[in-house]
Formats: sequence, C-alpha cells, structure tokens
Amino acid sequence: MLEDKSRWNKKYLEENPMPVEVSKIVEKYVNHANIGQALDVACGTGRNTHFLADLGFLVDAVDISDYALSKVKKSSTITKIDSDLDKYNIAPGKYDLIVNTNYLSRRLMSQIKDGLKSGGVLIFETFILAHGDFQHETMNLDYLLRKNELLHSFIGLDVIYYEEKIDTNLKGERVKIASIVAKKL
Ligand SMILES: C[S@@+](CC[C@H](N)C(=O)[O-])C[C@H]1O[C@@H](n2cnc3c(N)ncnc32)[C@H](O)[C@@H]1O
Repeated sequence: MLEDKSRWNKKYLEENPMPVEVSKIVEKYVNHANIGQALDVACGTGRNTHFLADLGFLVDAVDISDYALSKVKKSSTITKIDSDLDKYNIAPGKYDLIVNTNYLSRRLMSQIKDGLKSGGVLIFETFILAHGDFQHETMNLDYLLRKNELLHSFIGLDVIYYEEKIDTNLKGERVKIASIVAKKL
C-alpha cells in the first residue's frame, strides 16, 4: 500500500522505531538453518539482514520504506528490494531461511511456506491481539495475529519452537507476541 511507504518513512524519521540489535529469536535459532539464501520480509533498517549477512547468508531484504532501506548496508551479499509486500511474490523453493519479525501479511503466509527449500527454516515473530491493558504498536487488527493463528498458518512444517507470550515493546508497553521456528521437511 502506498500509504505504508509514507507512514513508515515518517515513522522512521520521527520516531526511529526499530533497534539495531538482531532479534533474539533470530540469534537463538539461526543455527537450525543451512547457510545459504535468506529472505528478510519487511527488513526495516536491517538489524536481522546485517546479522545474517555477517554469518555468510546471501540475503534478499524487502521493505517498502526507502528510508529504512537506505540504512541497510551496501554489500555484495545483500540484495535490497524496495517493494510493496501487498503485491510482492516470494520465489518458490529459493530460501534456506526466511525471517519475518514485527510484520504481518496474511497474503504471504502460504508463499513463505512455498519459498522455503526442503530443509529450509522459518523464523517468524510478531504481535498478537490481546485484551485488557495491553498496548500494540498499531491497533489495526489486520496487523495482529489471533491466538494460535501463527501455529495454524504453518501447519505442515516441522515445528522446532512455538510460543505466545507477554513482552514489552520499544515504548515499554505490555504487548503479546507469537513466535514460531519451523523447518520444511
Ligand atoms: C515494525 S517494522 C519491522 C522491521 C524489521 N522486520 C525488524 O524487526 O526490525 C515493520 C516494517 O514493515 C515495513 N512495511 C510495512 N508495510 C509494508 C508493505 N506494504 N510492504 C513492505 N514493507 C512494509 C515497514 O516499512 C517497516 O520497515
């Protein structure tokens, strides 16, 4: 969506919303994947892309924010893809590892599964709808998982880790997140 580009460019410029440290789940579970071709879905300013490239992965880093992509390092092992994930199609059978953190596109769920090679690993973590005094970075329900949805979406993959838990976002607010690490057999 075009509004996503201007909304996220503005957010990056005004709020600097993402940390530079690799996601904990990526750091912890990356060793389940063979080093090879990786996809970072909605890579932002590249915290996970940089970590994976440093490990030797060839990373396709996709995001709609040209500002965020300008912060992703220029490297022969990183392909920056300035694209709208509402329209982007993931190449089938290409990836040893697909990473998706703090972003949700339900349209891409089956493409992510198909994008993995046999033996490829998925690391996916994002916000889940919660009730009560929980806050979310966005209250747009389209961008929030439902309970058990992440697990159901990747049925057929071999689940290495799954959890739904309370966490804090960058503003220190209580949020709920769901995380999955799974392998395509
Ligand atoms: C919360 S940030 C997460 C960034 C990164 N995955 C991380 O964990 O650091 C969400 C990212 O999704 C991107 N995004 C939002 N809508 C998008 C769309 N339609 N197509 C591509 N990227 C989009 C934003 O530009 C932003 O970089």
